[in-house]
Amino acid sequence: MRMLLPTPAERVDPADAYAVPGPHRRHLRVNMVSSLDGAAAVSGRVGVLTGPADQELLHLLRSLADVVLVGAGTVRAEGYGALEVDDDIRRRRMAAGQLPEPRLAILTHSIGLDLAGPVFAEGHNRPILVTARDAPADRVDQAREVADVVVAGEQEVDLGTALETLAAEGLPRIHSEGGPHVLAGLIAADLVDELCLTLSPTVTCGDEPRITAGPALQPPRGLTLTQVLEEDDFLFLRYVRRHGGDS
Ligand SMILES: NC(=O)c1ccc[n+]([C@@H]2O[C@H](COP(=O)([O-])OP(=O)(O)OC[C@H]3O[C@@H](n4cnc5c(N)ncnc54)[C@H](OP(=O)(O)O)[C@@H]3O)[C@@H](O)[C@H]2O)c1
Repeated sequence: MRMLLPTPAERVDPADAYAVPGPHRRHLRVNMVSSLDGAAAVSGRVGVLTGPADQELLHLLRSLADVVLVGAGTVRAEGYGALEVDDDIRRRRMAAGQLPEPRLAILTHSIGLDLAGPVFAEGHNRPILVTARDAPADRVDQAREVADVVVAGEQEVDLGTALETLAAEGLPRIHSEGGPHVLAGLIAADLVDELCLTLSPTVTCGDEPRITAGPALQPPRGLTLTQVLEEDDFLFLRYVRRHGGDS
């Protein structure tokens, strides 16, 4: 990857460019991909928007995190399996005091997930289901057989409480892959420290969803651009929380 901003360079190591803070404080980074005209999925999947460099970055960002947080809608649409990392990354994580693989935390109210599916059957770690107190009790009981269950909030997950709970359980570096409902909720609750947006060199037209799906923010949130990388015509934009005001 080459760096366009802040310091132009023909080759950078993304692991340096995307280093995360130490475990002393909670940090939430969200990674999403969009077409040039704002589509976040095509026919319900991300597939045509992504590419090798984007996938490589996604796997790097996962590998740096303590936990990968994702909405159940994305797990269902994209057919998530267990998170895998290679041996080098496993060694590096262990040397840094992290679990060998990041945990996977899934936000769900309905617990409408295949509890016998690969997410639950294949991983080295039990997934974490983050749900609300009034989630269907029978589904919660079934989920406890295959996952750790975190209850945060009454009728829907209180996202701030959910992140606090993950951090308190030793998982402060949180990487979220959305999807749009989750990102909208996290932004509205002012929980996003960093938004990594991949701009895919693709135009879709049509009526595809955006990277957020939620009520309009009044006023809109402003973010600060800190880094731009490029490879294969994809732009990798790194925005961070704007200090000293929302707009
Ligand atoms: N462009 C990108 O980078 C990107 C990234 C991810 C996904 N996508 C695309 O986005 C689409 C899926 O969109 P989506 O908005 O449905 O996905 P989503 O945001 O991943 O999932 C929404 C679901 O997550 C659960 N949820 C979210 N917030 C919650 C809360 N506060 N409390 C309780 N449960 C909560 C609910 O699950 P239950 O229904 O189980 O209760 C809700 O239906 C797919 O087409 C996917 O390909 C695109």
